[in-house]
Amino acid sequence: MTWETSDSEGAKPTETARGDRPGDAAGGGDLILRGEDVTKEYQTGTQTVRALKGIDFGIAPSDFVAIVGPSGSGKSTLLNLLGLLDVPTDGAVSLRGQDVSTFSDADRTRKRKRAIGFVFQSFYLIPTLTALENVEMPRMLDKTPVKTRERAKTLLRRVGLGDRLDHYPDELSGGQKQRVAIARSLINDPALLLADEPTGNLDRDTGDEILALFDELRAEEDVAIVTVTHDAYVAEEADRVVNLVDGVIEDAGETAADGGHGA
Ligand SMILES: Nc1ncnc2c1ncn2[C@@H]1O[C@H](COP(=O)(O)OP(=O)(O)OP(=O)(O)O)[C@@H](O)[C@H]1O
Ligand SMILES: [Mg+2]
Repeated sequence: MTWETSDSEGAKPTETARGDRPGDAAGGGDLILRGEDVTKEYQTGTQTVRALKGIDFGIAPSDFVAIVGPSGSGKSTLLNLLGLLDVPTDGAVSLRGQDVSTFSDADRTRKRKRAIGFVFQSFYLIPTLTALENVEMPRMLDKTPVKTRERAKTLLRRVGLGDRLDHYPDELSGGQKQRVAIARSLINDPALLLADEPTGNLDRDTGDEILALFDELRAEEDVAIVTVTHDAYVAEEADRVVNLVDGVIEDAGETAADGGHGA
């Protein structure tokens, strides 16, 4: 079962997809992450659970991929692998062409922090810190606090919260909190943003605002976004929907009208 960036309409190896059609970023050379025949097994006592059963994937700059599927189908497992929080049991995951399993734990952590941002359904903002301080948080030990502060302010303005820098989380709406969390995830200029149910706690209008923000971030900062979602309207906006069923990708089609998934 495959999940590839190209929809196989003929690779255009000399072109990148930037600003064109993100789903097309071809050839494979530009991929942020690639997975080949990825299997993940969990061992609990004498029982082995095969959570992912040999899947392929590729994520290019500015991609927007939605992962959907029933409970227990392997969505979080996949997100953990994409986030370098875990390594596959079999098969290979590579970050910009480098096999993740060859990294030491410390190396993997460092590369994760540099390349990948995380956004969760329930925000995880620190209640005793202001919006600005929350965004700065991942770089608290940074040696250039002034630069970090400027970057954090820029990001909060970027997500439309330039007038809420000194608000605490409980002084913000749900959508605003999620936007702070998104700003925080971008503090290290990641190439990839992983979002677990980013609209799950938001009403539809607020969810639409988050989607619009994702669009801007992809266009203007080349951030690729992979999201697990149960919201149909989020999946509809994605370039590709990855439908996981019992550890395999059932249908990796495009949602665009021309994205026919023929044989
Ligand atoms: N740490 C673990 N140890 C053992 N089995 C696990 C572990 N994590 C997940 N599993 C199993 O792997 C399979 C996939 O789990 P996963 O959490 O990826 O599903 P999911 O698609 O995210 O489900 P949900 O929508 O309920 O969050 C499930 O059968 C689950 O029981
Ligand atoms: Mg899950």
